[in-house]
Amino acid sequence: DRSDAARKPMRGKLSSATRRDFIRGVAAAGASTVGAVAIESSGLDLFSEQAFARHRGNDFSEFRAIAPSSADTLEVANGFRADVLISWGDIFRGKDRRALRYGFNNDFLAYFPLRDSREGLLFVNHEYPDPFFLHGYKPDASAKNAAQVQEEQDSVGNSILHVKRRDNGRWKVVSPSKYNRRIYGDRPDLVFTGPLRGAPGIGTSAHGSVGNCSGGITPWGTALSCEENFDGYGTPVTLNVEFAYGWPQFGGQPEDAEYDFNTFKKYGWVCEHDPYDPGYVGRKHTALGRFRHENTAFRHEPGKQFVLYMGDDKNNEGVYKFVSARSLRSSRQQDDNRRILEEGKLYIARWEPEGRRRFAVAGSRDPLTATEGTGEWVEVRQSELDDTATKLRARMAADFGPAEYDTHFATNRPEDVEVAEDGSVFIALTNNSSVNDSHGAVRRLREDGNDPEATTFTWRDYAAGGPTGSPDPGRQGFSAPDNLVFDRAGNLWVVTDISTLSLNQPSNAYTYHKNNAMFMIPTSGPNRGVAFRFANGPVEAELTGPYFTPDEETLFVNVQHPGEVTGIRATNPPSPGKFGRERTYTSWWPEGNKT
Ligand code: FEO
Ligand code: CA
Ligand code: CA
Ligand code: CA
Repeated sequence: DRSDAARKPMRGKLSSATRRDFIRGVAAAGASTVGAVAIESSGLDLFSEQAFARHRGNDFSEFRAIAPSSADTLEVANGFRADVLISWGDIFRGKDRRALRYGFNNDFLAYFPLRDSREGLLFVNHEYPDPFFLHGYKPDASAKNAAQVQEEQDSVGNSILHVKRRDNGRWKVVSPSKYNRRIYGDRPDLVFTGPLRGAPGIGTSAHGSVGNCSGGITPWGTALSCEENFDGYGTPVTLNVEFAYGWPQFGGQPEDAEYDFNTFKKYGWVCEHDPYDPGYVGRKHTALGRFRHENTAFRHEPGKQFVLYMGDDKNNEGVYKFVSARSLRSSRQQDDNRRILEEGKLYIARWEPEGRRRFAVAGSRDPLTATEGTGEWVEVRQSELDDTATKLRARMAADFGPAEYDTHFATNRPEDVEVAEDGSVFIALTNNSSVNDSHGAVRRLREDGNDPEATTFTWRDYAAGGPTGSPDPGRQGFSAPDNLVFDRAGNLWVVTDISTLSLNQPSNAYTYHKNNAMFMIPTSGPNRGVAFRFANGPVEAELTGPYFTPDEETLFVNVQHPGEVTGIRATNPPSPGKFGRERTYTSWWPEGNKT
């Protein structure tokens, strides 16, 4: 990162060295932060697949890819070791030794260096509760009590963990630590910023944060956390509907009414938190729109406005770009940087010839539609920010007819977006049953002129999901890409999220895949675009949030929802899970190995 802000100490309670290390850390970690470096220094053809070839490897660059597995273990390639750092329910202690409980369904994570790659802060999202594992509820439409709702509210939000690497290479949570804290589903209050602050249904603050799926970081040292499936909390519990939590129904407190996502618009936003500042009041940025936010990836080029890319994780929804009104400033204007996400223009991508990959039948690997094309960024109106996708769909139908949105704005469900070193944007399009896309793809978008503020772009589907038929068990392909991260060697790391009830079935499109897994895809050289399997998750889990320390000696990853079938009511045959009798659970990880 070449901005002044990157090189000069930032203002704050922490030492300037801490902030500098953070910036050096994120720059070295690759990911979305180093576009400016490649563009100015490499002299490479930015539109060549060889743009990353100057890199040397890191500790993760060479491994023997592993075979698919349906075992109840977290398996990594030979020569690597995976340790459990913290699990749901574990107690860690914050200020004044106050006990904090690690939340459920960890998804996004990011490492914020305190000194270096051996001591830092992990910012972690807890996406959604699992009422069965919390208190034994299976969705049979029966009533919950207020204590159960509170337990669910306590299990979601975010954790900030002070972590340290021991001399033997294993990591521990530093506890107590003044940095350790939690944000919950109902507390503390976060404040709204931007054009819709104070608007009806929004107001000036919201109680806590829900649906925090993935997220991102900023160059000014904060974490962004994305509220994705915000509608389940206000939905009344219904027979066999798992993701309906009925908080307004059963919570018993007046503010529980605010989870009703039609009357109130308190959730579904991008939230900002400062892991380094235990007193920081979290923000919800209305300028970034309200939709099923998956994550954020920023791009900053010298002399250009700050840009943030985002996906709307829902079938037939779109990809967004925010262009700030304020410029990223030097250290003396750090308070200004903290307002960058409050004002700017939000755009949605319009794809030509069309945005979705359509297939004749489920499981097919041969799309009926083009795999490359052009596009333009269409501005979202301020009046559309509070229900962005719904209002855009209505506008496009009124202006251009009923097919416009699905043809040109819809995609096959964007999960993570990441900015590569050359400034191109990689988008995980996970799958979309409505157009028979079982396996998904990774799409690469290039702004015209490589200008982050461009209003037109080109695109190409870079790596397609599905079985490759390779005789090498470690290269048989991936399905349903979800989170993405680049390492500094330029490799793209991909985790998969095949839905739990589709995993390990005797005969479906995903049988070949076995458990969800993590893959490394080189972006240059003879193996570019080939997915090598690095890790397998345990039974019914997805791996989420992969994130390297700046030295890339450690890769943090979250293991989400192992044994998820245990708490699902409508399975055939019915799940044998009995609350509190752990032998009946479908996964024993991390306590044991059911298989
Ligand atoms: Fe929570 Fe977009 O997966
Ligand atoms: Ca996700
Ligand atoms: Ca997913
Ligand atoms: Ca997911």
